Amino acid sequence: MCGIVGYSGDKKALGILLSGLQSLEYRGYDSAGISLKNNNDIKTIKTKGKVTDLITLIAESNINTSATVGIGHTRWATHGSPSSVNAHPHYTEHVSLVHNGIIENYRSLEKFLKAKNINKTTGTDTEIIALLVDFYLKEHKDFKNAFFEAIGMLKGSFAIAAISKGFDYMMLAKNESPLVIGLSKNETYVASDVSALIEYTHDFIFLEDGDVALINKDNITIWDKDKKEVKRNTTKIEWSKEKAQKGGYKHFMLKEIAEEDEAVRNTIQSRIDEDGNVFLNDEITIDKKFLKNLDRITIVACGTSFYAGLTAKPIIEKYTDIKVDVEIGSEFRYYDYPYSKNNLFIAISQSGETADTKEPLKMAKSKGIKTLSIVNVKESAIARLSDSCIYTLAGPEISVASTKAFTSQLAVLYMIAFYIAQIKNYEAAKKLSKKLLEIPSLIKNTFSQTQETIKQLADQYYNYQNFLYLGRGICYPLALEGALKLKEISYIHAEGYPAGEMKHGPIALIDENTPTLVVAHPKEPFYSKSLSNCEEIKSRHGKIILVSSKKADIADCTIEVPDIDYDFSPFVYIIPLQLLAYYVALFRGNDIDQPRNLAKSVTVE
Ligand code: F6R
Repeated sequence: MCGIVGYSGDKKALGILLSGLQSLEYRGYDSAGISLKNNNDIKTIKTKGKVTDLITLIAESNINTSATVGIGHTRWATHGSPSSVNAHPHYTEHVSLVHNGIIENYRSLEKFLKAKNINKTTGTDTEIIALLVDFYLKEHKDFKNAFFEAIGMLKGSFAIAAISKGFDYMMLAKNESPLVIGLSKNETYVASDVSALIEYTHDFIFLEDGDVALINKDNITIWDKDKKEVKRNTTKIEWSKEKAQKGGYKHFMLKEIAEEDEAVRNTIQSRIDEDGNVFLNDEITIDKKFLKNLDRITIVACGTSFYAGLTAKPIIEKYTDIKVDVEIGSEFRYYDYPYSKNNLFIAISQSGETADTKEPLKMAKSKGIKTLSIVNVKESAIARLSDSCIYTLAGPEISVASTKAFTSQLAVLYMIAFYIAQIKNYEAAKKLSKKLLEIPSLIKNTFSQTQETIKQLADQYYNYQNFLYLGRGICYPLALEGALKLKEISYIHAEGYPAGEMKHGPIALIDENTPTLVVAHPKEPFYSKSLSNCEEIKSRHGKIILVSSKKADIADCTIEVPDIDYDFSPFVYIIPLQLLAYYVALFRGNDIDQPRNLAKSVTVE
């Protein structure tokens, strides 16, 4: 979730790069940098911080600003903490490049380079690409061929723009990370999304996965994944800058739901290899022996992050045999919690600044308890305070209602479960983590498969004043999270309940004016019981929306999701609940990205 911008033309590149980077800062803002190419020389300036910090640094430098070719980057750190060394562009003696995405096989490429006495000096995976291109440049003496050779070795997601001394063109590559070329007379632009370029051009070529391109100010050549030269269509885009930042979506919330496959992919990609090994060693610095002998895990969080913890609890317990408590931060801070002998404390927070989560973390530390955090915002207070931190790589979440953070947090929690299971030599651990690799495409299918149905459904239901959400087992916390999403942005009263509890009270609410959303996996051990709940609702004239991979006649409507193993179903089943909240709020005309009375980061008690 970083931003790329590049330029080759007759104008001075610097101003274009900086304004493009500022437009892209909503994608990442922990460090920024540029490389400018003047004849046979490339100069790079980069820094930790925002683009304004970069502008100050450039003003203080004596860099030649007359360059008409350059690349720039704004970063949301994935590999390596935010620092000027880890900021992009990454460069060698001959090459400079910027990269979005994650190189999955960077460990084996690092070994390949090490064997040739080439060592990296930064904490990033990106530097590996620069070193590879440089290595092959020495061999081929030709930038294009060297670039092709290096790109052919990469596995993972990438959008890359590279320049080299002595060559008057820029090379681009795209796989699973967006990259667009902007067209104009005697100038060619490149960016990770159109918002960076919309003030300069409305004509774009969207590169496809596997594409490699060579561009300069008046030439664009594109090769597809088979290295066959291809023509790609030009698309006219007349969006405003604001609309472009939302990727053409009406709201950040919908854009962020649509991004969940990418967020989860980024979060797991470089941490699980093809054989199912989970690599959390660098991030969980806590002694492995301690992890092996854990007798309890205490998870503390608030809101959606709390529900992510609650959803993962049965998975962690099932695959690690460790008891898990999931606690609400605001309650936990006033509770004298009886820690066990080998207790791990996990704080979950998208913002990393939530006071009600931070305080329990401090309290746990003061008692000598080992602490781990799962955080999205780099270098935030919770990330810095905890002994170890695993970042969700979801990119900035701008909508107040949290969506992609939830599924990314789940991905980390599942990885922690499988990592500990691996340490404990649990046989199925590798098979399970391999299954996690299939999740991003299932999330993507769920979004496209359910969006239209949900839109129509929301049109029918947006005037109701009360909703009940029910689920059992792993679907119960999803009911809670679905109800939270609905109340936050639609302002409709919604209650989440374990389905079995309905008869102990909430059933009194059921009538024709209180619809019930039931989340039920057809292979859950109690599916028939969930259907019995539906019968009870029906006989009281209540309307039923069922979220399941199997249609049931009893429901007024089934939102059908792709088939998925029960244990992994939360990743898929949550998407329709988020979408339903979104479309109901949309029909009610609410301010979706900034709902009333709410803030993105709650730093006060
Ligand atoms: C729900 C929502 C809030 C947050 C909660 C915790 O959509 O946004 O409930 O989940 O305030 O925030 P973080 O995860 O930043 O600690």
